[in-house]
Amino acid sequence: MLESRPARRPIVVSGDRAPRVHLWQQGCQMNTSDTAQLAEQFAEIGLVPGVALVDADLAVVVTCAVRQHAEDKAASRIGELARWKRERGGRAIAVTGCMAAEHGPALLARFPAVDYVFDVREPDGFFARIRDLYAGALEGPVPLPAGDQLCAYVPVIHGCNEMCTYCIVPFVRGRERSRPQGDVVADVGRLVARGVREVTLLGQNVNSYVDPDAGGGLADLMAAVDRVPGLWRQRFLTSHPRNASPRLLAAIAALPTACEQLHLPVQSGSDSCLRRMKREYRVATYLRTIEAARAAVPGLAVSTDIIVGFCGETEVEFSATLDLVAGVGFDVVHVQAYSPRPGTAAWRRADDVPLAVKRDRLQRILRLQRSISEARNRALIGAEVEVLVEGHGADDGRPYGRTRQGRVAWLDRSASVGELVRTTVTGASAWQLLAA
Ligand code: SAH
Ligand code: SF4
Ligand code: F3S
Repeated sequence: MLESRPARRPIVVSGDRAPRVHLWQQGCQMNTSDTAQLAEQFAEIGLVPGVALVDADLAVVVTCAVRQHAEDKAASRIGELARWKRERGGRAIAVTGCMAAEHGPALLARFPAVDYVFDVREPDGFFARIRDLYAGALEGPVPLPAGDQLCAYVPVIHGCNEMCTYCIVPFVRGRERSRPQGDVVADVGRLVARGVREVTLLGQNVNSYVDPDAGGGLADLMAAVDRVPGLWRQRFLTSHPRNASPRLLAAIAALPTACEQLHLPVQSGSDSCLRRMKREYRVATYLRTIEAARAAVPGLAVSTDIIVGFCGETEVEFSATLDLVAGVGFDVVHVQAYSPRPGTAAWRRADDVPLAVKRDRLQRILRLQRSISEARNRALIGAEVEVLVEGHGADDGRPYGRTRQGRVAWLDRSASVGELVRTTVTGASAWQLLAA
């Protein structure tokens, strides 16, 4: 899909240089990965990606549609860009991502300043148009800035077949399509050659991955990725509880590069609510999976997503969620208030939990989880951890990075970006660790 205004005139590049692109992104890791991919595609045809907005000729907005709040944020960003566009002739705005998949050309009518709307899954038409329109200003591929990127996302399966009743993702990302294992491994090899040391294998339902060539699952893919020389760490996101198989847990335990981290969204701690959400597992089976995962992988960090205030959620159902959060003792919980999404099955139900109640439930989960996260982190004081140094604090220049479990750790020593440091935890808060 590519929609553009018929009267769209070429970007007028100021000065004698290649057109420059500003990329703005929101949403999940899939969008981060798509945005990186777009940057490469722009560079390939001769535009300079990743510049600051003031220097840009073209602004690309990579949108999310998972909640109304995300759509509102994108709309306000487009509003800001409309002013940016008026400041100098020849600027242009393109919109892609999940809102483009959801609304398509209607976005051109809604936002008069937008010039292009394209599907990020099929961007060829858009890039062909850009190439044609700006041919005079393009001088072949431009080099991407030599990155010191250590961690990268690698999509392994696109789309989702689950159709949870509240969720728009299957509508905007389509049905599941796994990439061939060989392609994924080749991507990881290329990234490692560029200096990347940690990869996160991505999918909306990553553990339903099936290699279209040989039929292997995520555990097999992880074993193949583990064999890429020079890779230190791998993680994967996001797993569905239904597909968290013993083989997958065994792979996390056995593979040297596989990090001890599992993100397993539960959404609700009440079976009746899970049923209305069409989440195909029950609280008891979820708890058994967590137990099995912890038994298989010592030191495993477990995180989850929760929706509060879903259609018809009673106080009793909500307390069951609180009980689950208290019982499991997650390391991290992402909690969101239910936001009705047009076209989903739940859209036809009444959004009957008042906003004030949703907000109150959200705060109650956050308060509970804060004390749990803090206790879990404090229990690590004195333990040895492995930190991959990712950067230095803006204020004090202290090195920070992530442990294998994904916790942020600040180091009390000098260390360079890219160093793998084994050290001891000396302090902890709910959100981060201090280490020697
Ligand atoms: N595939 C992942 C992530 C989907 S979107 C999964 O299965 O969990 C990320 C999170 O956003 C979800 O886990 C859910 O907690 C939340 N979410 C999705 N749709 C939502 C909606 N309509 N309202 C509020 N939160 C939503
Ligand atoms: Fe959405 Fe459910 Fe698929 Fe996750 S598993 S992307 S919540 S439909
Ligand atoms: Fe949002 Fe699309 Fe991701 S809707 S959460 S950016 S798949």
